[in-house]
Amino acid sequence: MSGHIFLYNEEVAAPPPNRIDARTRYCAVLGHPVKHSASPAMQNAGIAALHLNWRYLAFDVPPERLQEAICGIKVMKFIGLNLTVPHKIFAMGMVDELDESGRRWGAINTIRFETRQGSGPWKPLGQVQTEEIDEVRSVGFNTDADAIVRALREDLGVEISGAEVLLLGAGGAGQTAALRLAEEKVSRIYLINRTRSKAEELAKEIQRRTPDVEIVIGYPKKSIDLLLNATSLGLKRHDPLPFDPKRFSLGFARSVYDMIYRPAETPLLKAAKAQGCKTGNGLGMLLYQGARALEIWTGSSAPIQVMRQALTEEVYGP
Ligand code: ATR
Repeated sequence: MSGHIFLYNEEVAAPPPNRIDARTRYCAVLGHPVKHSASPAMQNAGIAALHLNWRYLAFDVPPERLQEAICGIKVMKFIGLNLTVPHKIFAMGMVDELDESGRRWGAINTIRFETRQGSGPWKPLGQVQTEEIDEVRSVGFNTDADAIVRALREDLGVEISGAEVLLLGAGGAGQTAALRLAEEKVSRIYLINRTRSKAEELAKEIQRRTPDVEIVIGYPKKSIDLLLNATSLGLKRHDPLPFDPKRFSLGFARSVYDMIYRPAETPLLKAAKAQGCKTGNGLGMLLYQGARALEIWTGSSAPIQVMRQALTEEVYGP
């Protein structure tokens, strides 16, 4: 019998999911600021659907106290953590081990705490009982990169392999998206970034990792399969479009994905809909990175529909 099934049965038989008691276990998101995070609503809905006596909390931790916070949380035997802005890059140096995903994408958004008995195998804390916890280590994962691909495929129906993509933005989110899409064998990426040197650096890194993918710094002059906005333009109500309308028309894009999810419809998505493009916002990315984190902690499939509904209600209201 696996550790997880044992825990599941125990929790079903134990206190009702809405009661916190001395056996309740914890996960949390750390960010700075964190008060707008939708993760607690989404994760607690998923946890309740799995009948786990766990809770997911949010803590505002400034970067200079992050190491201390992670140490304290480890001592308190939390099951895992999510990390959000601005912690994702330098938290890499604060974990005991990096999963392959953390190493590959150069940023972590999920930590899983693990324990072992003597020199036995490391087991996730979420899959053992508190009494069995001895030595604890932290392992950093990246669930953001795969969430981009899943959202594009499942929510927008984009066939990524062979696609031609216009990517707007070469900041943290843009870099991860570009490298992940290149790995998925897109045929060509057009890159635009306000600071051109960052686009050039990113282009070099894509070429180094995936030489078969063609990179163009500039706008396409023909139809593309996907326009992906990874800039922050659209977060504020009066933001301009994230591309130059004199140099590119949305009529050239079959699908448009905006990583922004609040507001639900950015000026970009509104204009894209008016042009008849298929559109999607960043809520799916948020959902899939969170669902994967829950799977990493529990070892079970995440209840995706329950989490999607909780997230949608949290962000857009019931
Ligand atoms: P994230 O981790 O969300 O990607 P980031 O690394 O700060 O955050 O990146 C923000 C992105 O939005 C960058 O591509 C940034 O362009 P620069 O690299 O030139 O800074 C882009 N961006 C932010 N404000 C912008 C603006 N007013 N006009 C155009 N691009 C903007």
